[in-house]
Amino acid sequence: MAADREPIRLAVIVGSARPERLAPHVVSWFTGHLAQRPDMVADVVDLLDARLPPSPDEESPEVAAYRPRIGAADAYVMVAPEYNHSFSGVLKTAIDCCTTEWRAKPVGFVSYGLSRGGGVRAVEHLRQVLAELHAVGVRDAVCFPSVLDHFGDDGGFPRDRAGADLAAKVMLDQLAWWALALREAKARRPYTS
Ligand SMILES: Cc1cc2nc3c(=O)[nH]c(=O)nc-3n(C[C@H](O)[C@H](O)[C@H](O)COP(=O)(O)O)c2cc1C
Repeated sequence: MAADREPIRLAVIVGSARPERLAPHVVSWFTGHLAQRPDMVADVVDLLDARLPPSPDEESPEVAAYRPRIGAADAYVMVAPEYNHSFSGVLKTAIDCCTTEWRAKPVGFVSYGLSRGGGVRAVEHLRQVLAELHAVGVRDAVCFPSVLDHFGDDGGFPRDRAGADLAAKVMLDQLAWWALALREAKARRPYTS
């Protein structure tokens, strides 16, 4: 199969490990949306299950199990709740546990928060950190302001499902462009820095 026809391997990183988290509702909608995209195959990397140590530790078996999943991906979507105008500590640890795995790969964002900001401050902070790792944040993101208005206690779908699906499509189309462009570029000329 031609390189541009192989599905993009997407790691969806679930950036909350709170016991009572809302993340599964957001992820459930997003993976449902992804199921409509034959150009992508997703590995959901749930940081609650990954049980990474509080700080990066190469000797940890959990880190050893986690890193290849990040390395195998062509692209990432970070599902990022906003905590105190930034992203979660568990997501920072997940980023810090890898180095070259992130290089020359695109990252998209699905953010949310209780405030009207919708997690955009978390996303802007993620962009800064990812630049240090030679990863490329795509322009458009999906955000859910006042997230409880979108996903109630019973989860289900976002209230404005059409709007959310359109935002996801825009973000994923950009992610796909970058993933394929970088796949081709790296095949011709390995990324070095
Ligand atoms: C420590 C903490 C800080 C938070 N700070 C913000 C914030 O700055 N902006 C915001 O919109 N929501 C904030 N929230 C609300 C969370 O974004 C909201 O509870 C969301 O559901 C968290 O995602 P999770 O339930 O998947 O962990 C905060 C929540 C916590 C626990």
